[in-house]
Amino acid sequence: MKGKHNKHRENRKRVMRSVDDETAPVLARDGTATAERNAGAYHVPVMLKECCDALITDPNGTYIDGTLGGGGHTAEILRRLDKDGVLFSFDEDAAAIAEAQRRFENELRKSSPQLMLRHENFSFACSIKRDGKPQAQNNIMGILLDLGVSSRQLDTGGIGLSYRVNSHLDMRFGSRDGLPVSELIATTGQGVLEQILRDFGEEPFARAIARRIVDVRRVAPVLTTFDLRAIVEECVPPHLRQQSLSRVFQAFRIAVNNELGVLEETLRGIVPRLAKGGRIVVIAYHSLEDRIVKNVFHECSRRSMPINPDDFDTPEAAREAMIKSTTVEVEPQLKILTKKPLTPSDEELSYNYRARSAKVRIAEKT
Ligand SMILES: C[S@@+](CC[C@H](N)C(=O)[O-])C[C@H]1O[C@@H](n2cnc3c(N)ncnc32)[C@H](O)[C@@H]1O
Repeated sequence: MKGKHNKHRENRKRVMRSVDDETAPVLARDGTATAERNAGAYHVPVMLKECCDALITDPNGTYIDGTLGGGGHTAEILRRLDKDGVLFSFDEDAAAIAEAQRRFENELRKSSPQLMLRHENFSFACSIKRDGKPQAQNNIMGILLDLGVSSRQLDTGGIGLSYRVNSHLDMRFGSRDGLPVSELIATTGQGVLEQILRDFGEEPFARAIARRIVDVRRVAPVLTTFDLRAIVEECVPPHLRQQSLSRVFQAFRIAVNNELGVLEETLRGIVPRLAKGGRIVVIAYHSLEDRIVKNVFHECSRRSMPINPDDFDTPEAAREAMIKSTTVEVEPQLKILTKKPLTPSDEELSYNYRARSAKVRIAEKT
């Protein structure tokens, strides 16, 4: 037992030495202990070497880290850039931006910093500007999206992302346009609540939980994470509760942040802005996100597509074309570099259990 622990400690030292000393790693395997031990570390970056190796093909290029979080990937990208390289790092969460302003203080104080922080949704990455000029119309060399939430966001409770910490049930990363979860729950019909739990959480107890939410809110509003947790616990047998709680919280988080819509829109929007050879690297943590990445990559890499009758001037012209072939040849925009997604090594999992569901897909602009 002692030997195993020492081995993990050695692994962890070896990996972290080469990477980033400011981000303390995590050793525990169960969620709770991880949260406790992680106190003090903002976030342990996932698959750091693999992602940065794939992302950076030209150290003098323009890069985007769409999900700054604790800045682990941003720090490593910056470390690998040469003097003409530039990095735009986005986060909707004000706390992540504040942390980065502290962490990268020296870099940001330079007369022409290589790092630009953006407190906004990463969908704005499709229209970034450099030196005030409409930048990067076609010259982004790489974008990294490390989806989901940081350990800090989970551990501190803050916006209500964790069922382990009692706080206001909000879950919006930053944008104040949409509703907080407490309001969504107060104003949405049972059928739509059930749909949210099914579509965004794949939750088997969706119907029972939606029904219970509606019963409870007739008596008192569902305002806190523990209010929602109590509802889930009433509907789900004890041995299945933890998974249901994760799925229900995930479902509401995805809904209020329109996470899947934003991801798809950003992937599609960024493709034309990439330079030839530019890379898209996405770390997904659940199948819904991963499916979107896979589908968009697949669509953008295909060499033919079904004929669309609307593209023809007349129905006769469409019919005539479709007699010859039901597909048309198209120029692929992307080349998929990961037939199967990359996953974390055992070594990484030995010090960062939260990386366990990560899947990385990479594509390159043709
Ligand atoms: C998994 S963490 C990123 C961790 C980071 N790679 C690191 O090394 O510390 C995801 C971060 O992305 C942010 N985020 C999620 N969706 C976003 C979006 N659509 N636009 C901007 N930021 C987003 C979250 O606020 C969170 O801080």
